[in-house]
Formats: sequence, C-alpha cells, structure tokens
Amino acid sequence: MSQTPVRIDGEAVTAEQGMQIRAPYDGQLLGEVPACTAEHVDRAVAAARRALREDRLPAWRRAEILDRAAELLADDEVADDLARTIALEAAKPITTARVEVTRAVSTFRFAAATCRTVSGEVLPLDASEAGEGRLGFGLRVPIGVVGAITPFNFPLNLVAHKLAPAIAAGCPVVLKPAHQTPLTGIKLAELLLARCGLPASWLHVVTGSGSEVGAELVEHPDVAMITFTGSPGVGWGIRQAAPRKKVSLELGNNSPVIVQPDADWAAAAKKIAAAGNTHAGQSCISAQRVFVHADVAADFVRTLVEAVEALVVGDPLDDTTQVSALIDQDARDRVTGWVDEAVEAGATVVTGGKVDDAGVLRPTVLTDVTGDMKVCAEEVFGPVLAVATYADVDDALQAANDTRYGLHAGIFTTDLALARRAIEELDFGGVVVNDVPTWRADQMPYGGSRDSGNTREGPLYSVLEMTEIRSAILS
Ligand code: SIN
Repeated sequence: MSQTPVRIDGEAVTAEQGMQIRAPYDGQLLGEVPACTAEHVDRAVAAARRALREDRLPAWRRAEILDRAAELLADDEVADDLARTIALEAAKPITTARVEVTRAVSTFRFAAATCRTVSGEVLPLDASEAGEGRLGFGLRVPIGVVGAITPFNFPLNLVAHKLAPAIAAGCPVVLKPAHQTPLTGIKLAELLLARCGLPASWLHVVTGSGSEVGAELVEHPDVAMITFTGSPGVGWGIRQAAPRKKVSLELGNNSPVIVQPDADWAAAAKKIAAAGNTHAGQSCISAQRVFVHADVAADFVRTLVEAVEALVVGDPLDDTTQVSALIDQDARDRVTGWVDEAVEAGATVVTGGKVDDAGVLRPTVLTDVTGDMKVCAEEVFGPVLAVATYADVDDALQAANDTRYGLHAGIFTTDLALARRAIEELDFGGVVVNDVPTWRADQMPYGGSRDSGNTREGPLYSVLEMTEIRSAILS
C-alpha cells in the first residue's frame, strides 16, 4: 500500500519508513503514513517560523479561514468521509463519530468568533506617578510556533481544539497526530490548506511515534509552545523536557459521579451507563467511579446493569453499534487485567468483564470496589463502571475528591444547597450537576487541576494561552 503523504511547507511528503494504520476492530489495513524523522520536524518548524515573519495574516482573514473550515466540515460529503475515517481508525461507533464531526464544526465556529473579538486592554499607566502623561496598551501577540500533539480518542475534534485556536491566535502550527489515528488529522490539515485558504507555511503535519517525532517537536528550540492532550505520564514528562516553553497539558481523569436518593436515579443510571461506555470509555471524562446512596443502591445497580446490557456492541461502521473495540490489544489486556485484579481483591463483576468472540471487551459494571483498586484509583480508559455505595453524602464528596486527578466530576441531586456545596467542594476543573461528568460543550473552559493538567481549552481559553501580552507604551 502506498503511503498517505503528510503536508510540510505545502509539499506532499512521504518517508523512507512507513507506519501501518490498522482498524482496531478487525485489524484491516487502512493505510500507511510516513514515519517522519528529525529532519521533517526541522523543515516543518523552519517553514512555520517563516510564516511568522513573511506570511502574517490579519484577524479578518484568519477568521474567514476558520469559518470556511466550519462550513466545509458541515458539508455532508466531507462530514461522512471524516466520520467514516474516525470510525475505522479509532473504532469509534459511526453515530458517535458523526457527533464528533458536528462538534468540530462548533469548535471552528467558536474559534472564528474568538478571532474576531479577542482583544487586549488599556493599561492605566497614570495610576502611578511614573506613568503620568503616557498611554499604555496590553496587546495580545501570537506566542510563536505551536507544536500540537493530539490523542487517538478524538482524532478530529481534539485536533480542531488545537489547530483552530492556533490559527485564531495567529500562530503557525506543526501537528503531530496520534500514531494510531493520524488519517483523520491529515485529512483535516489537507482541508484547511487546500480548501480554506490557509497558507502552506501555516500548518504542517509530522506523523510518527511520540518518542521520536513528538520528542523532536517538544525539544525543538524554535517551537514556542507545546499543546498536548494525552496521558498524565507523557504530559508531565513533556513539561519536564521543555522547561523554557509554554506547555499546555490536558490529561486524564477517573471521573466520579455521585447519585443522591432525591435525584431521578433511574434516569441517572441510564445516563451513566451510556457515559461510561461512549467510545468504550476512552474519553478523559468518561464516567468511571460511581458513588450511589445506599437507600437506592440496589435498584440503581439493577437499572444501570439493564442499561449497560442493552448497549449494542460490535462493528463501529454499523449504525446500531454503541460500543466497539478498544484502541489496541495492549489497552484491552491492561483493562481486563485491572478488572481481574479488582475481582481478586474482592470486587464483584455484575456484568461484562469478558472479551467477546470479536475481541471486544464487554461493557463492565463492578460493585464492592474500594478506592485503592486500579479500576478506581487510576484512569481506566475502558468500558468499566466501578460502583461504590455511601450512607452520608459527606463521605461521597470526600471519596470523589480522594484522587490525584481533577478534570470533571458529576452529581445528581435536586437539593440546591448540596449542588452548590458540590460545586464549591469538588476539586475538579468542571462540576456537572444533574448530568454526567462526560458532558462538555466545546466553547466552555475545559481542563483540570492536579495530575489532570495545567490549562483550559475551548477556543477562547486556548487563544489566551497561545498569545502573550505585549505592553505598548506611548510616551
Ligand atoms: C477528552 O478526552 O479529554 C475530550 C473529551 C471531550 O471532548 O468530550
């Protein structure tokens, strides 16, 4: 199979070595992409630097490019092709992949709006004696070349969350998409360059492994900022490897959700069943640790299990499929290993826990779990819900907080005072009341505290990260 080229400085580039891309569901060969080298990264960064000097674009043109991208992504033919590519290379059920394309439209639209409206500030210089008689402005200027390293789980929208704000901010980008799912990112880049009017020097794609191509990008002296979404281990490693760069990290979580007896717990059970299994639990905000009040626990678990067992498992290209394969065999072995370990330590598998004939791990519900089991303490990133009960909501709030992660948490309750307390006391970047922690709108500030990261994404927030304030003083 011939290599799908990547675009560097406008040129379609292949490499001596290739990387095969296989469908996680059935192993079919989907394509081959270049295994790029340090030389490719160098070329890409040099061209991006040139964009900053020679190909600067005013905000109105950048906004037009972003609007055009949104328009094209909403086109049926483009959207179908991208959704199919996502479904195949990520094993994301096609209906969920279509939602991802729709979300990417929204990400580009919000980036265009931000590009048109983000502004600096007037500095009140005469507030000090020394500043009297001068005028000052804080101008937002692009930080420089952005290196974007993206994960496999949202091969389109999490790439959009880096490219669109970078363009809005005026920063040229070098994109390194996940090695498992580069085809979608390559298509998005082609669309921006060939059909939206983005100049060739503004966007470059380098495919390859994180330890080689990713590391080259991270350490490249001419890359001003790395924006990374992925695992905490890799993310914090990048932070250490590039102490002088701006490094924005959006990392993992073991999302807790609390279910109070006053809530519509049956509706909550159905939402949690879906939210723990969307893309087989491979979202940083997948519902994972479920804390349910003892008064309703038995009925809640019955409803949850019924809803989980009703999920259709199978081929991601089938319109009825809701859960498909994990990204690779390593992921499947790790998740099943953690489930087995939990069972050895006293957990009960109420449903799932087994790999079916097609190689897909069945959606799994565990009860009798304790906080030290890996299925609770770590990010599972698989179709596993770990249910614990509590008698006092204070204990549930404390248990939810008892983690090194801090991305999103959820609580179902009709008690306004408790909802307010949860928002104040749950130590997470987002607290969702009466819905699952998996809920996200693309314009909101999204990111975590503690091991979950150090940034907020969402077009406006990313543009703020990708720009610096330059103080302009008129004397
Ligand atoms: C993530 O996995 O962090 C992204 C979740 C989302 O955008 O829904």
